[in-house]
Amino acid sequence: MAELMKRTMYCGTLRAGDAGKDVCLNGWVQRARRLGGIVFVDLRDRTGLVQAVFDENGGDAGLFARAETLRSEYVVGLRGTVRERSAKNAELGTGDIEVLVSELVVYSEAETPPIYVKDDDNVGEELRLKHRYLDLRKPKMQRNLAFRAEIAGLTRSYFAANGFLEIETPVLQKPTPEGARDYLVPSRVNPGNFYALPQSPQLYKQLLMASGCDRYFQIAKCFRDEDLRADRQPEFTQIDLEMSFVDVDDVIAVQEGFLARLMKEFKGVELSLPLLRLSWAEAMERYGSDKPDVRFGMELVNITEAVHDSEFAVFAGAAASGGSVRGIRAEGASEMFSRKDVDKLTDACKAYGAKGLSWLRVAADGITASFSKFYSEAGLANLAQLFGAQPGDLVFIAADRDKVVWDTLGFLRCELARRMGLVNDASIDGPYAFLWIVDFPLFEEDGEGGITPVHHPFTAPNPADIPLLDTEPLKVRALAYDIVLNGNELGGGSIRIHDKELQRRMFGLLGLSEEETQNKFGFLLDAFRYGVPPHGGLAYGLDRLVMLLLGESSIREIIAFPKNQAAEDPVSGAPGSPDAAQLAELGISLK
Ligand code: AMO
Repeated sequence: MAELMKRTMYCGTLRAGDAGKDVCLNGWVQRARRLGGIVFVDLRDRTGLVQAVFDENGGDAGLFARAETLRSEYVVGLRGTVRERSAKNAELGTGDIEVLVSELVVYSEAETPPIYVKDDDNVGEELRLKHRYLDLRKPKMQRNLAFRAEIAGLTRSYFAANGFLEIETPVLQKPTPEGARDYLVPSRVNPGNFYALPQSPQLYKQLLMASGCDRYFQIAKCFRDEDLRADRQPEFTQIDLEMSFVDVDDVIAVQEGFLARLMKEFKGVELSLPLLRLSWAEAMERYGSDKPDVRFGMELVNITEAVHDSEFAVFAGAAASGGSVRGIRAEGASEMFSRKDVDKLTDACKAYGAKGLSWLRVAADGITASFSKFYSEAGLANLAQLFGAQPGDLVFIAADRDKVVWDTLGFLRCELARRMGLVNDASIDGPYAFLWIVDFPLFEEDGEGGITPVHHPFTAPNPADIPLLDTEPLKVRALAYDIVLNGNELGGGSIRIHDKELQRRMFGLLGLSEEETQNKFGFLLDAFRYGVPPHGGLAYGLDRLVMLLLGESSIREIIAFPKNQAAEDPVSGAPGSPDAAQLAELGISLK
């Protein structure tokens, strides 16, 4: 094994002021090439690249011969003198200098790598994930990991300074109530019994409040066996926190301090506080979404009243059956979307339950619409006016149940904005539109005739709405809040129920029997028997936060070893099949 040549500097940190210094560098060969009597080596470490130079006429033929054997991704140590470069490279931080090498050790050779270590390597994601250790060597990935670590650091310092204790909660636990499928772990000493990996530390953080900890936080691994999306991983990380003796405003104030500090330190942006707050009802009415992107307008217009007696059955039918007819105006977009584009958008809307999409185009010489034959010219002009549509505008209209209309237009609004260039999600420089959504409904329909919590069953109802719990539960507002950034749900939380009778009542409303309640959540209700403070909290998705601040479009870009679409770890090949002896020990037989 080659002797370690102790590093004195990082490659990427060398500058003109270091000229004349003797340095020892360790790193990877990005590229080695011979030009006449010189071998140039770009040496890379976490901080960047520097050019190292081996001179054939330097008096050490052995050194030069070894330099000629260097290949990409060899790991080496070298000693040399920093000197000014004759041909400077303004694109490189270290471009003013180079290191004239006098000693070289090769720590390890490298085969030709299956992917190039450079940011613009256009290789498929699966190959990148399989050889993640190579992929992570790329400057952008190094930057992403470093940025994530810095955000975690700031998180710890902010919450500690605000009186929060960092407390770890169990990973092997009882199933938690976030609503996704659990990952189960068999217990060897309790055959037939399973732990669940935490979907979140929800119940334990509430127990910590009952334990008198007052303020808790944790950067917590969470596990949810759900279908993957660009902003979802089966294994992800939350910044999780809980506070005692607080109301909604107290929780929000602490978060706003955190977000302001984050934006100031990492983006140089002064957040204007307090952040915008919208009630859930207003967010749906104006944006069709509980995580609205408010970087642009294009708000929904409700035209149900105006079209309830329309001859166009789609409009009249939606109005008559208690649904609604709403639309959005894409300003100046008529020329940008052909008939075919509109058909494609309509197809995309079907994923949100829409059976179709109506449109209306305003041109200087008149108005055309997908439903023209049911309307006179004046009728179309009236409709256009409801949207404030001008020549060149394109209006999209959805008619259905409220939920379908909102989901469809909520999606379409963002899709149009992207295509019209109103937003750029790949921008690392913002803008950043944060807002709170408050006054969520406590319950929603579960699609099987029952109700299910919008957040989780520990969320407190708004005290003013408690009388509606048994009569009109869908009208009950929750003391819940989500923090939204650029159309993404960054985090969410609530004030919790701390009254054991109200908590039992909630479980009852959700259709849980006494026995099920006791079995699943008895330990929490037990804790509530012995004195529990009013409390509330919140959890951010750390992965999403880092992704959005870096202008990345997938959380896989900011997780060191993410799972692929099939929930596999392409590096290790997990999940794997345990051997028969292991299974037998766990009392499990695979049929
Ligand atoms: P919730 O389920 O809303 O709340 O989760 C909080 C935040 O975690 C992030 N998140 C995810 N990120 C990546 N992949 C996933 N699969 C994933 N699922 C959720 C989101 C989300 O806003 N215990 C409550 C919080 C509380 O009430 O205090 C909870 O877990 O950014």
